[in-house]
Amino acid sequence: METLYLKYRPKKFSDIVWQEHVKKLFSNALSKGMVSHSYIFSGPRGTGKTSTARILAKSLNCENPIDGYEPCNECTSCKTIDSGKSMDVVEMDAASNRGIDEIRAIRDKVAYLPVESKYKVYIIDEVHMLTKEAFNALLKTLEEPPEHTVFILATTEIQKVPETVKSRCQVVEFRRIPEESTKKHLIEICKNENIGFEMSALDHIAKRSTGGLRDAIGLLEEVSRFSSGDVTLNETLSMLGEVSAEMVEEYVSSIIKGNAELLLKLIDTIEEQGVEPLNFARQSLEFVSVKLLEPSMVEVGKFISDLVQRLKHEERQFDTFKVLSIFESMKHTETFTRSSEVIEKAESSNIKAINPDSKKSDIKTDVERLIEWYSTEGKISIFACLAKSSIKDFGDRVLAISDSELCHEFLKEGLKDIEGNFKRLTSREVKFLSAYSAVSIETMEPKMRDAVIRTLSIFGGKLLPEGGEEIV
Ligand SMILES: Nc1ncnc2c1ncn2[C@@H]1O[C@H](COP(=O)(O)OP(=O)(O)O)[C@@H](O)[C@H]1O
Ligand SMILES: [Mg+2]
Ligand SMILES: [Zn+2]
Repeated sequence: METLYLKYRPKKFSDIVWQEHVKKLFSNALSKGMVSHSYIFSGPRGTGKTSTARILAKSLNCENPIDGYEPCNECTSCKTIDSGKSMDVVEMDAASNRGIDEIRAIRDKVAYLPVESKYKVYIIDEVHMLTKEAFNALLKTLEEPPEHTVFILATTEIQKVPETVKSRCQVVEFRRIPEESTKKHLIEICKNENIGFEMSALDHIAKRSTGGLRDAIGLLEEVSRFSSGDVTLNETLSMLGEVSAEMVEEYVSSIIKGNAELLLKLIDTIEEQGVEPLNFARQSLEFVSVKLLEPSMVEVGKFISDLVQRLKHEERQFDTFKVLSIFESMKHTETFTRSSEVIEKAESSNIKAINPDSKKSDIKTDVERLIEWYSTEGKISIFACLAKSSIKDFGDRVLAISDSELCHEFLKEGLKDIEGNFKRLTSREVKFLSAYSAVSIETMEPKMRDAVIRTLSIFGGKLLPEGGEEIV
């Protein structure tokens, strides 16, 4: 079966969704016989550049253009071009033919008259990929274009096309297609193909395709195959690796309410469903960003946006996701001061934190064993803080540097406990220290301060809190 987006490739200007300015430009130019010799079609992928280029090629050569500009799609010329067999419409992908030889080959041929049509049309896709030499060769051709030739250079990255080339061409900008228009188009396709759908599913597909119609149609097709039937919101979400809106809402509200217990359950479910934390965080951010008029959302919005940034660079996404979420929820608990009810609850509810890293080799450092012990004991707060911290083992002392004040507070409180457990597990007697910010580092005893600075330099200084003062 032909893929849907190819089946629904526009065959004439009026088939093209959105891009009104483009249609107007060409209906005018074609009716008046004032088509330029070289165009650049610029814009995001899947917005109609290649389709428009082919339609233009057909219109230029059509034996009976409708209203003077639409290809008839019936004549021999239109049909030959549609079948991709025309000798005079040449498509080249600059991504795979980047060099000067390919462009020279075109130059050698442009001089000849079209074989079977009025115009020779060269469509060069992804033109920004050409090498410098190839661009120079192309420029020569563009400078003296033969009467019967039209060049269409398509690109998703116009900023990479040299000025000299740009100035020789008429630039036509293809814009992202609005969600509403995308949705309408999807509805039409569904009706045509007898695909059942939920409107909310099409809304979501339109949103996720960010203005690219090819992506939208592709996703629609994937979901309908995947679900072997109707396109529902739930199937769409699971195809995209996203969770339901209810779950996102629950996540955000348990942070705001400081409900660490519910939060942990929720995160477990997300993990079971195989949802990527980064995707989930992005979904949550989207949810929050439309509710920013509610004061409570502002703070949690800021947190989630930080979280998204963090997760992008984090290998152990789930750990970070879990731990930071718990911290944030604790921050929102009014009762949280020194010994919080919530923490005790989280600990006693026997919810196990994820294993630090089960894939790692069996040889564990003392600190790793300690962290793991806290994890299996379900002592989530200490586990979370330690797992989140960067830890430096100096032999007689161990330094835990955390990038959250809250985490630092937890550790400080638990130091005696940590030292005791460390001794029990490893038979080593050490002094545990916790540090977090430039400010607290400043007030440390000099020897320790040096150690922190050394440690920070080992860890690339990334442990400083965002917006925190540089100390090294
Ligand atoms: N503006 C549009 N109107 C209708 N269909 C479109 C449009 N843009 C993209 N499509 C759909 O996406 C497919 C690929 O479009 P294409 O013209 O190759 O995009 P581009 O060259 O901009 O990446 C088409 O076959 C069609 O199904
Ligand atoms: Mg294209
Ligand atoms: Zn025709």
